[in-house]
Amino acid sequence: MTLSFYELQTNTQVEMKNYKIAILAGDGIGPEITQEAIKVLKVIEERNDVTFELLPAAFGACAYFEFGDAFPQATIDICDQADAILKGTIGLSHEESKKIPIDKQPERGALLPLRRRYNTYANFRPVSLPKALAHFSPLKPEIIGEGIDIIMVRELVGGLYFGNKEMGINEQGLRYVKETLEYDENQIRQILHQAFKLANKRKKILHNIHKSNVLKSSVLWNEILDEVAVEYPDVQVIHQLVDSAATNLCLRPTQFDVMVMENMFGDILSDQGGGILGSLGLMPSACIGPEKAYYEPSHGSAPDIAGKNIANPYSMIGSVAMMLENSFDMAEEAKNVWAAMQGVFADGYSTADLSKPGSGVTMINTVEFGDKVVEKLRQMPKV
Ligand code: IPM
Ligand code: MG
Repeated sequence: MTLSFYELQTNTQVEMKNYKIAILAGDGIGPEITQEAIKVLKVIEERNDVTFELLPAAFGACAYFEFGDAFPQATIDICDQADAILKGTIGLSHEESKKIPIDKQPERGALLPLRRRYNTYANFRPVSLPKALAHFSPLKPEIIGEGIDIIMVRELVGGLYFGNKEMGINEQGLRYVKETLEYDENQIRQILHQAFKLANKRKKILHNIHKSNVLKSSVLWNEILDEVAVEYPDVQVIHQLVDSAATNLCLRPTQFDVMVMENMFGDILSDQGGGILGSLGLMPSACIGPEKAYYEPSHGSAPDIAGKNIANPYSMIGSVAMMLENSFDMAEEAKNVWAAMQGVFADGYSTADLSKPGSGVTMINTVEFGDKVVEKLRQMPKV
């Protein structure tokens, strides 16, 4: 078949990609760190044949106070039409939270509904400590060795978080509560496939984290794991009880590469991951569903440091990098974003939330950190 002149012309043109991103800046430090992530997105546009249409929407406690709902319908509509969602942080201090009825609080009223709506069952949380970041860690250099590079794969829409809940007065007149940890085999199988696929692409070692000596849910989990493992003969599975994994994360973190676990275990161990890095501020994440994904820091809204221009935007910009890779097929540019951020640390800069004065680093604020990342990114060879 011969192509006409016009077809030849259009075939050789580089295709410009246009993506819509819902921006849910949220509460506390959310808006500040989101602002820096947006700067990075603008530079990505400059450097690539891509445009991002940013669609800001209210989400979290701020949305509750303005619209009476932490996840208002207008925000749902924006998220529905977006190609990906970038979420900041949500939540209030313990005292402030009490101003909102329990079921409308941002965690139960916005975040869990967001996860449920898009069935974002696969949560990837990198616990990554390259050399440039090693001084942030409370661990001794001999434990860190050549660096820590773990990805925790957390099931995100099942288990205790989403099981039936009851609260009331029992037959003896006592206040009681009942929460159920539920999984069906399909839910378990789909997250295990994600973990095995990732392990297959990396070091081919998968740590399966469970509590089968006590919990029936772990017995079923492990049964399904044996079935799924047959499809990934190159991946070595290492079973570890969740309590023992918590110890090993402190004592021997470099043994881990990909770890997979159910929702609640993942919530707790991933925060411990932030602990061994030295701060939850170094923890971005990707929450992937069959049709939609959203990206968020793994940490809360840090109300104590909100508005002070000291929060490090690493977790938010890292979430952008994960978005580029997973939602927009821009893995190489994602690597550049990581390298730019680590380059800023390697140059001896930090923010006050991560480093104490006198720790030998040059202290810069949130905005300056974002500016330096952007400056580094602009210098990187285009992909
Ligand atoms: C996280 C957070 C959430 C969770 C909270 C804010 C509901 O801690 O993403 O880890 O428990 O999943
Ligand atoms: Mg958590």
